[in-house]
Amino acid sequence: LILVYVITTFLFRKLCSISKSSSSDLPLPPGPRCWPILGSMFHISKLPHQYFAQQAKKYGSPIVHARLGYSPWIVVHSPEIAMEVLKTRDMEFAYRTPSVFAEHFSFGYQDLIFRNHTDATWRHLRKVCATSLFTTSSLRLSAAWRQEEISAMVSTIRSDAIKSGSTFVLKARPLIYENNMNMMSRMLFGKKYFGKAHSLGREAATFRTIQEQLAAESAKIHLGDLFPMLRGFDLLGTEKNLRERVRPAMENFFAAIIAERKLQHHLDGGIKKHADFLDVLLSLKDGDTVSDICIMALLSDLMAGGSDTGTISLEWALSELIAHPDQLMKAQQEIDNVVGQNRLVQESDLPYLPYVHAIIKETMRRHPPIPLLLPHYTPVASHLGGYKVPAGSTVMVNAWAIGRDPNVWSNPEEFNPDRFLGVTDTQFVGGKQFQLVPFSAGRRQCPGYPLAAIQLPLTLGSLIHAFNWGPPAGQKPEDLDMNETFGLSCHRAVPLQAAVSYRL
Ligand code: HEM
Repeated sequence: LILVYVITTFLFRKLCSISKSSSSDLPLPPGPRCWPILGSMFHISKLPHQYFAQQAKKYGSPIVHARLGYSPWIVVHSPEIAMEVLKTRDMEFAYRTPSVFAEHFSFGYQDLIFRNHTDATWRHLRKVCATSLFTTSSLRLSAAWRQEEISAMVSTIRSDAIKSGSTFVLKARPLIYENNMNMMSRMLFGKKYFGKAHSLGREAATFRTIQEQLAAESAKIHLGDLFPMLRGFDLLGTEKNLRERVRPAMENFFAAIIAERKLQHHLDGGIKKHADFLDVLLSLKDGDTVSDICIMALLSDLMAGGSDTGTISLEWALSELIAHPDQLMKAQQEIDNVVGQNRLVQESDLPYLPYVHAIIKETMRRHPPIPLLLPHYTPVASHLGGYKVPAGSTVMVNAWAIGRDPNVWSNPEEFNPDRFLGVTDTQFVGGKQFQLVPFSAGRRQCPGYPLAAIQLPLTLGSLIHAFNWGPPAGQKPEDLDMNETFGLSCHRAVPLQAAVSYRL
């Protein structure tokens, strides 16, 4: 083993010196110590966004470099350089890092998230989403489903509250997750898998298993990502499960949905009208058609993109409001003034609820659901902020650190929605100065933003309008555990448990 280590270290150094002499003379950004072969793996903590923010502070540098095995990482911590990566030079940096998980999740890079932006199908899929799923008129068509799901969620909580007599302890995360999932799956392919009203027993169970497995797989470290030359050996056997179980299960699941829909179209004598996004995808004509495998990959992306991020944001928003009861009361008063106390919040109320929107923005500043955004990549050597960016670098923007930077925000540690009153949505999404980039910006900007901009305030507004929220008995608001846990996305470490009572 020692001999293998020595030989590989020698070869690796040789390789580095070749690339050094052929690339620019700029230095690498500062960062943790890189050991031969292993790189900085053992320095990076379980919360990489926090670790890199500390490194940026330690070196007084807005860019930090680390190496995971053979793969260089460049992490950006300033709005100015974030703008370069995401917007002004995004053609260079909008590639995606190839990885074991990405390859299987995307059915071999057939999807939107992991396909490279230079690929014509990527542009086509983004256009179809933008023009058929996220336009104001298509979102208006799916409004009734969202409202039904919200009403069902409120009824479930209310009946639990009535059963318990008054205040009861609610685990918010599963309820919000199931609500988001139902909204997404109904909009995409007309089915729902959670709650009392569905009748899809076995299909729902398969769907849940796939989602659980994907969550577990996305958090795993694969040796093949750190040392691409070892990928074929799958030494730790981590790829086997993805290749042999998860990917085929996803493929069977989505293939069955597509086959069922095609049969329906056949029986109906064609597609009469678009009931959901799957109908739109299957009715694309001439040069615009997309293959079944692309449709599967896209549906899977949209389910993944639209469910966890929303759940995380809403759980953090509720946590912050429980920790700040005065703000909760202010939001409830705003909603009461607009909606009254005899009905639930509706989408048409949203333009009149600026404080609820401000709470969502402040939550995104403190707790961006994907704190390092999704990894970008450059296949060729480049430069940023006066530093060298080696070819094959994964480039990440630390949205979490920018949101808490005292040079960018006054009192960044304070949760204060008032700072966003009067801020328009255009300033919020990849705002001009790039201070707040939870949805990213440029070519890779989250295409689901128009939906999230409705779904988040609607769900939060409905939950705080219908119920009072407080910490469980014996805890003070200021004692609420606000620790984070990291996968690709950043949940509360301890799922929120809240004391809930109904107010309508
Ligand atoms: C990409 C955030 C909701 C679908 C992304 C990215 C971020 C993000 C940071 C990566 C951008 C980059 O690579 O620079 C969020 C947040 C959400 C949200 C904070 C809500 C709280 C949604 C929804 C959908 C969605 C509702 C769909 C229904 C996608 C897709 C991509 C993406 C498909 C990949 C785009 C591409 O690579 O071209 N999102 N998202 N997201 N999001 Fe979202």
